[in-house]
Amino acid sequence: MQFSNPWRDRPKGHNAALAQLRLPVTQGMRIVVDRRDRVHTSEGKEVPMVSKVLIPLLLAAIVAANGARAQSGVENGKLQFTKKCVICHAAEPGKNKIGPSLFGVVGRKAASEENFSYSDSMKKFDHVWDDATLDTYLAEPRKAVPGTKMIFAGLKDKGERDDIIAYLATLK
Ligand code: HEC
Repeated sequence: MQFSNPWRDRPKGHNAALAQLRLPVTQGMRIVVDRRDRVHTSEGKEVPMVSKVLIPLLLAAIVAANGARAQSGVENGKLQFTKKCVICHAAEPGKNKIGPSLFGVVGRKAASEENFSYSDSMKKFDHVWDDATLDTYLAEPRKAVPGTKMIFAGLKDKGERDDIIAYLATLK
């Protein structure tokens, strides 16, 4: 993963520099630099800016934190899947419950699990499930596929969706 150094690469507009600094840190948390070059987390905690020399260290820490999250992401995804999806979906091949088996779902065409009776909307949803389509569907199922018979409000938290999708990708 690569991050640009906003001081070195600072583009002309200050806003563009700020936009560049909206880096993901942990689930839902972001580092934000305000107009006076104070560094905050999105939770409003101010990180004292002793010197701009600190920034490379900060970026290195962010990269490390993201690495740690990549590992724990699948585990958290499995946990969330158990809490929120298992009631209707199995992770084992060929096992359909209220919803179709999600074994091998990443890379599979929508509505292609044999012996599952999909809604007409899902049958017409002509997409292969990948990170992007899963993300949109899981965020708001009924908006992404109007008429879907998956009765599920959706996952608001992007980090949680990422983790669940990372877990789904291991089911193969
Ligand atoms: C209340 C039951 C229920 C819950 C909870 C639920 N689903 Fe579903 N899901 C369904 C049903 C039913 C379908 C079939 C939708 C259709 O045919 O329109 C479906 C379809 C899907 C599909 C499309 C599968 C395919 O073969 O095209 C995916 C992906 C999916 N669900 C993921 C999830 C994930 C991930 C969760 C947990 C965050 C979840 N679902 C929670 C019932 C549920």
